[in-house]
Amino acid sequence: MGERGLRLGLVGLGTIGTGVVRLLQSQGPAIAQRLGTPLELVRIADVDLERDRAVALDAYALTRDWREVVADPDIDLVIELIGGTGVARDVVLAALAARKDVVTANKALLSVHGPELFASAAENGVDIAFEASVAGTIPVLRALREGLCADRIEAVHGIVNGTCNFILSEMDAGGDPYAACLKRAQELGYAEADPTLDVSGSDSAQKLAILLGLALGVHLDPADLPTEGIERVSPIDMEFARQFGLRIKLLAMAKEHEGAVEARVGPTMIPASSVLAGVAGAMNAVEVRGRHSGPTLYYGAGAGALPTASAVLGDVMELGRNRRLGISGRVPPLGTPSLRETRLRSPEEIEAEYYLRFAVLDKPGVLASITGVLGNLGISIASVVQPERHASEAVPVVIMTHRAREASVQRARARIETLGEVRERAQLIRIEREL
Ligand code: HSE
Repeated sequence: MGERGLRLGLVGLGTIGTGVVRLLQSQGPAIAQRLGTPLELVRIADVDLERDRAVALDAYALTRDWREVVADPDIDLVIELIGGTGVARDVVLAALAARKDVVTANKALLSVHGPELFASAAENGVDIAFEASVAGTIPVLRALREGLCADRIEAVHGIVNGTCNFILSEMDAGGDPYAACLKRAQELGYAEADPTLDVSGSDSAQKLAILLGLALGVHLDPADLPTEGIERVSPIDMEFARQFGLRIKLLAMAKEHEGAVEARVGPTMIPASSVLAGVAGAMNAVEVRGRHSGPTLYYGAGAGALPTASAVLGDVMELGRNRRLGISGRVPPLGTPSLRETRLRSPEEIEAEYYLRFAVLDKPGVLASITGVLGNLGISIASVVQPERHASEAVPVVIMTHRAREASVQRARARIETLGEVRERAQLIRIEREL
């Protein structure tokens, strides 16, 4: 780096990329003072250079070709913010091969190609940092990699998708329909370019895969993690949850068991009194349980241009400090030189309480048929709620189970759905009381 500042190249000038430029412009002097040298953004690449981003760009060399950024011998560090696993992978691998440090917010890329990228960084004697890839501005990856590195982490529970948390919070508070809440989340810049990644739970699963590496030291492909989104959660489920002192959140969770890991993403009923139940809007929170440290909690904005840009520039500063000292690889990207292979617990091994909601014809004997199926599968019922008659033909019946095997509950749901009096697909939501 010498006497000149740390020279940066930025690939991707979308919401977060523009946030990075803006933050560099406003925080530049403070960063230079803390880092002991200025950060100089030299080149920016984006396929669309026409769009007005309401930020001054005349100080930078702009290009449509990312290769010009990666090939610039003056650039020390490349910030990759284009997302996805295609071109982004080429950009990151090319930057590492050119012995440039890399900062990325790309959870899709890391959760799938992490091992390849980390190996390349080590081979080339440079670093790759990705704090912004999980839970936006919250420094939870750094906490796991450094603060808690002496402990054995036993469980992680997180609200790691701001869009979903925003939508669920809006539905819960104002009863607005799902589509209107999703549109608002998009307007606020929380949602991914393709919002199905958010609402289907895939974005959370990618973040969970990264957390699994850092927290439990295991590698699991996000595509293998049981994942359910929020598309089928309805305000009626939220009302029933309230009656039982519970709230519905999209939770990403992982627990260590003897010889296996339990991990999933899905709508989950949690105690209304728990800290995670109070996490509203686009905020994210991750609760980590260490065998010796006990529970620690990380809370903050999980999405949005400037919060995420703050995490990106925090990484840039960390790598800049390493570079000034002439070091790399001080801490392995996932906190450990190699990840353990493990297996996921199957639904036959998982036990929890469950909420089931059926839409049934209000006829004698329907409840007996449903409870009969549950009884035959060894599922014990904790409560049944059947509200007053509704105007519509079908009425909801809600069943809360005692602890039961997940596989049995799934079987019961499928069998009950075949009964003549049952209309629509049933709703099945796991209850987690230990939060
Ligand atoms: N779309 C993501 C979210 C942004 O809503 O949390 C950060 O990954």
